[in-house]
Amino acid sequence: MVKIVLDTAQDVAAQVAKIYVKQLKDKPDSVLGLATGSTPVALYGQLVKKYQAGEIDFSKARSFNLDEYYPMKADHPQSYHYFMKEHLFDKVNFASSSIPSGEAKDPKAECKRYDKEIEDAGGIDVMLLGIGHNGHVGFNEPAVTYSMGTGFVDLSDSSISANKRYFSADEVQPTKAITMGIGDIFRSRKIILIITGENKAKIAKKLFENQIHTDVPACFLLLHPDVTVYLDKDAASLI
Ligand code: F6R
Repeated sequence: MVKIVLDTAQDVAAQVAKIYVKQLKDKPDSVLGLATGSTPVALYGQLVKKYQAGEIDFSKARSFNLDEYYPMKADHPQSYHYFMKEHLFDKVNFASSSIPSGEAKDPKAECKRYDKEIEDAGGIDVMLLGIGHNGHVGFNEPAVTYSMGTGFVDLSDSSISANKRYFSADEVQPTKAITMGIGDIFRSRKIILIITGENKAKIAKKLFENQIHTDVPACFLLLHPDVTVYLDKDAASLI
């Protein structure tokens, strides 16, 4: 696992955006795994700017998002579908963009369908990840066993409270999600993990203890041959 520490979250976003420029130059039909949450917002802003400046072209690229709440309508302002449209998909030109459906009648069948779609696309070239305070990646929460493929999961109390800020008092916050599994993430050829902000310093420290803590899902990344972790100084302050 390679660690790169830069001054600010904006510096991280600018640096990681350059990797995507190169990736799409080298392989225009790349399959990109994407994340939601506050972490990638700055990166998506950079990618939109680069697209508008003609520096990057997504027209042959496909994307697969990590997760979606369940149940969740795609047009709900707190859905990950909505988030991705707002921050990226409505502003750049992906050939196709896939996100697990929070509206599927049978969520388990949706998990299988999503895995097949990823497999049919040839797997993920570059997987972008953020990390939860409890070490979750996607919505693979700390557990005794981890799902290989896309799974229909319960969110942990930690994740529910971390995401509470996005829901207004009169909205029902989902407690379940459909998420790519640890296996889906691990099969990605290259993984970029972004960790920014002081409130991620503790989990970043845990990750870089260089031990597999089985209750920290992100620790499996230590076993992957091509993972680069980009941190800002705040997140790296305890390492
Ligand atoms: C998002 C996702 C989550 C987030 C994580 C960090 O698609 O799968 O694992 O990456 O919860 O969220 P933020 O960036 O909001 O701190």
